[in-house]
Amino acid sequence: MVANVREIKDGLFPFNGDELHQLTFLLNYAILAPSHYNAQPWRFRLSDSGLDIILDKHRVSRFVDPHSREAIISCGAAIGMIEVAAHYFGSSVNINYENTTDRDLLAHINLTGTYDPIENDIAWFHAIKHRQTNRKYFDDTEPPNQAIESVQGYANALDVQLSLARDIGAIVKFSDLVERAVKRQFARPWFRFEFTSWQRSMLSLKPDGLTGHGFYHTSLPNLLSKPMLNWFNWGSSIGKYNVDKCRHGSPTFAVIATANDNRTDWLNTGRILTIFLLELAHQGLSVSYINQAIQEKDLRKQLPPIFQSMLYPQLILRVGKASPVQFTPRRSVEQTLL
Ligand SMILES: Cc1cc2nc3c(=O)[nH]c(=O)nc-3n(C[C@H](O)[C@H](O)[C@H](O)COP(=O)(O)O)c2cc1C
Repeated sequence: MVANVREIKDGLFPFNGDELHQLTFLLNYAILAPSHYNAQPWRFRLSDSGLDIILDKHRVSRFVDPHSREAIISCGAAIGMIEVAAHYFGSSVNINYENTTDRDLLAHINLTGTYDPIENDIAWFHAIKHRQTNRKYFDDTEPPNQAIESVQGYANALDVQLSLARDIGAIVKFSDLVERAVKRQFARPWFRFEFTSWQRSMLSLKPDGLTGHGFYHTSLPNLLSKPMLNWFNWGSSIGKYNVDKCRHGSPTFAVIATANDNRTDWLNTGRILTIFLLELAHQGLSVSYINQAIQEKDLRKQLPPIFQSMLYPQLILRVGKASPVQFTPRRSVEQTLL
């Protein structure tokens, strides 16, 4: 049974409870973070000393994400949700990244004192429950500069670069790389196998994976798409579809990049991703991801000159406006606890 994880009663935050109770409550927001394939690759361990964020290796896509980069970004996004919610409830947060021998332990979190939430904190918190990935074609709405600048301030503080691109020349070059990446990926049977293993039919009750809402298929093809995508290589048409969407349904691209490419960069990318997505949701804008060219090592190297970005692009997002899609499911907090 899929729990309705979006029905959190904010008023039940235990203001008078101890740190453990407060951190437990904040996990309700952490689990609403975005994640690659909606795999939710996080585990949480609560103790008297605080909260541990642990990478769930069983939920990492072995073929697309061999170094767990995207999975760790997703865990960073969950940390970002905890930060935003803690600030809203008036708590400051201390986040320590762990680089110990326990390779799956990513970070340790404590609530450290009082915090006076500002306008942004309140707006971002209220966007948590209605933020969503939307893969439709977008209209021409552009994000307001002021909104982006406020997120860029946070990004700079974490050594993450957030830049926007609207130049048609750059979009054409980028979409060519996306097409090459998509064709290559779908030509690999093991890629198709892994991709379809995270696909869910619209009738599925599983609390993870991609339900197909907001994708290119409607309900009947949705039921058929899993075997069809698994057995046959549709890379050519999916590549063309992506090119068309980049050129005709994506008024703005956002690139999140870093100067290095290690666990700290990935966790910081995830935290900035959360703030950026919440700001866009607050502005009533829609977002989806177009990361295929980053996932191919040689194509990734060609991206910085196109977007004048830092050396390691981590995520590329399309930004615009479209009508909402259905929400994706989540595992409950209990299912994520160690
Ligand atoms: C690191 C990361 C990588 C992602 N990559 C893609 C992607 O390549 N294509 C895509 O359509 N969605 C991508 N997503 C979006 C997820 O599929 C989405 O977050 C997940 O299905 C949960 O849905 P929600 O964002 O609506 O809550 C990515 C998300 C994250 C955090």
